Amino acid sequence: MIIVKLGGSVITKKATPLTINREAIAQLATTLKESRVPLIIVHGAGSFGHYNAGRFGLDSGEETRNPEGIARTRDSVLHLNLSLTKILQESGLNIYSFPPIALYREGKLETHANKVITEIMKINLIPLTYGDVMLGENGFRIMSGDVIVRDLAILLKPERIVFASDVDGISEKPGKKSPILRELDRGMIHKLSFSKVRNDVTGGMESKVLEAMRIAGQGIDVFFTNGLRRDRLMKALKGEKDGGTVIRGFNYEN
Ligand SMILES: Nc1ncnc2c1ncn2[C@@H]1O[C@H](COP(=O)(O)OP(=O)(O)OP(=O)(O)O)[C@@H](O)[C@H]1O
Ligand SMILES: [Mg+2]
Repeated sequence: MIIVKLGGSVITKKATPLTINREAIAQLATTLKESRVPLIIVHGAGSFGHYNAGRFGLDSGEETRNPEGIARTRDSVLHLNLSLTKILQESGLNIYSFPPIALYREGKLETHANKVITEIMKINLIPLTYGDVMLGENGFRIMSGDVIVRDLAILLKPERIVFASDVDGISEKPGKKSPILRELDRGMIHKLSFSKVRNDVTGGMESKVLEAMRIAGQGIDVFFTNGLRRDRLMKALKGEKDGGTVIRGFNYEN
């Protein structure tokens, strides 16, 4: 089993509010189908969720009790989820989509989540969930798709994780001039720098890399690849080295 995060930077046009990237989704759907690997898909909020979360002040990281902000942000994410599900379905991927609240209790994945996902996958359905506004301790908070991927990875111990975004992988510095790193290990993390987060309320690539390190610490390989490029996405799905940047799984004890 492989968990793939379809970044909002792939499935939406992140710089333009409320704009889906249909061509990109149709293309990646074909790649996912052709890969023939059992998948769990988590998608990001892109220019839907991040836009409304910013507009309604849900981007502070604090819990919120603003009903209009929560409702509007969720509404836009659900709209994206429905459009994505339709396109994936039209490409022959049988999707079972559900909000992450179905899997969590008091901020933690319930053990029941394992059974839900296993049963869905048993009949060749593809579980699909997404970054969402989730119940917190004293209100609601944004839970990023990247965090959901980390939680699912720790619970389900998949073969590998693929984070697909709009860049080929991780570079030491943001921008096209800095080459993509083929491998990233713990010792290199402090040398990396990341661009200031724009249109992303959940910490952008920097948080993604930190979540990825936690996953790798469970002995699971994590790939960063470009979801807009068929060949690269396919290679990452297959665990081939030149699909982008890989963080090899390790064990903390070692
Ligand atoms: N050092 C870096 N290496 C690679 N990409 C970087 C780096 N610093 C910043 N980035 C940026 O991170 C962006 C991807 O992160 P972002 O959170 O926007 O995407 P996403 O997770 O796919 O979207 P979403 O959060 O909506 O799911 C890229 O567009 C890239 O420009
Ligand atoms: Mg992001």
